[in-house]
Amino acid sequence: MRILVVDDESIQRDMLKGFLEKQGYHVVAAENGKTALNRFLEQPFQLVLLDHLMPDLTGDEVLAEMKKINPLLRAIMITAYSSVDTAVKVMKLGADDFLEKPVDLFLLLEKIQMIEQCVIVKKEASDVTEVIDQSELPIRIIGEGVAMQEVLSLASRIAPTPWNVLIRGETGTGKELIARLIHLLSPRKDGPFIVINCGAIPENLFESELFGHEKGAFTGAATSRKGRFELAQNGTIFLDEIGELPLPLQPKLLRTLQERCVNRVGSEKDIQVDTRVLAATNRDLDLMTTKGLFREDLYYRLKVLEIELPPLSKRKEDIPSLVEFFLDRCGLSPISFDADAMATLVKYPFPGNVRELEHLIQRIVTLVRGSVIRNKDLPAEIRYHKATEPGVLADRLESVEREMLLSALEKNDWVQTKASELLGISERVLRYKMKKFNIQKG
Ligand SMILES: Nc1ncnc2c1ncn2[C@@H]1O[C@H](COP(=O)(O)OP(=O)(O)OP(=O)(O)O)[C@@H](O)[C@H]1O
Ligand SMILES: [Mg+2]
Repeated sequence: MRILVVDDESIQRDMLKGFLEKQGYHVVAAENGKTALNRFLEQPFQLVLLDHLMPDLTGDEVLAEMKKINPLLRAIMITAYSSVDTAVKVMKLGADDFLEKPVDLFLLLEKIQMIEQCVIVKKEASDVTEVIDQSELPIRIIGEGVAMQEVLSLASRIAPTPWNVLIRGETGTGKELIARLIHLLSPRKDGPFIVINCGAIPENLFESELFGHEKGAFTGAATSRKGRFELAQNGTIFLDEIGELPLPLQPKLLRTLQERCVNRVGSEKDIQVDTRVLAATNRDLDLMTTKGLFREDLYYRLKVLEIELPPLSKRKEDIPSLVEFFLDRCGLSPISFDADAMATLVKYPFPGNVRELEHLIQRIVTLVRGSVIRNKDLPAEIRYHKATEPGVLADRLESVEREMLLSALEKNDWVQTKASELLGISERVLRYKMKKFNIQKG
């Protein structure tokens, strides 16, 4: 569980943080209400421990603001003296409990553990019930298989929160579609959804694209212009292919994420922006950060929440409904695949994922005569596709050998004489190979 501790007294704050960290919780401390709200906007917390009396904002004010952002947040208020008045007020505001100063740490731990139990039970319940009603949405996402259902359920739980999301997945897996879905299911749905493809903008124009520029800021800047962050005010900005963001610009993006403001090129003035940031990548950002190609601090800011889109080859169960969907979308008259042709499609690994499938259907529909698509109508690369993905030959051969041994043994109830006969090898060789591949019964 992630806990935010808010207290203006440093001794009390450090004591609580130290104690809770020892208990294995992830704890962030804030010294006043404003900092607490900033931390809260940056990353999710399930529980907040709030000092009731602080110089800037009171505990109740902070809690009320936080509850607006995350109504499911749990809170324990810490008050200087017990008064029924405060207790009632605090509970009304949605605190689950309160404690008196000096804090009895064991009582605190007990209360936290109780809250934790409730949070877990609720989360499990919501995991099961979350289904998105797509009928009201202007986009359609196909995916009845378990893998995509999990993605959709995660997206629907992530959508209402204010946190940055990093969407990962191979090319063509539907990252942009999921980003749109998150925007449409969020409280910002009536605001703009602004896309910026970090891979498609020349490096020298990047800063002005993102943050805007003032008139005369550089040669060619005849008028002042808003950047994409400003255009996404009260909405969502989608930073596509974030792995392509040039290193020199990364600190500027980081600053915008931290301070929620931008400077146009050619101006020192801070412009506040209220924008939800979604980013996507098909690159290995972990590896890029270790190689120094992507800033680690920016990476952590972007991936407060993460969604991973599985490649189409790992969710082949969705292929038939995707085919039907794309046929419907581009077909003038009803067209369908016969069973053999569909089987061929399902076997193909689709390295370009859903986008490749979509283009393939468009191509076939344009060329086909008649209303039924058969194997012969499929392009040769799909019909004659063989499992020839590159890899070390010896590894591939060993894995084939291992599978053959296993299946011969299983077919013969692990009687080695029979299995070796079937395989055409001696029993001694079979035993040697079983040892080599670590094959054991059960
Ligand atoms: N589950 C899905 N249901 C329906 N259409 C989909 C689905 N997934 C992807 N598509 C379609 O496939 C195409 C590619 O999707 P999208 O652009 O979202 O992928 P991407 O992951 O952003 O790709 P890239 O990495 O190349 O930018 C789009 O036309 C999109 O509408
Ligand atoms: Mg994309």
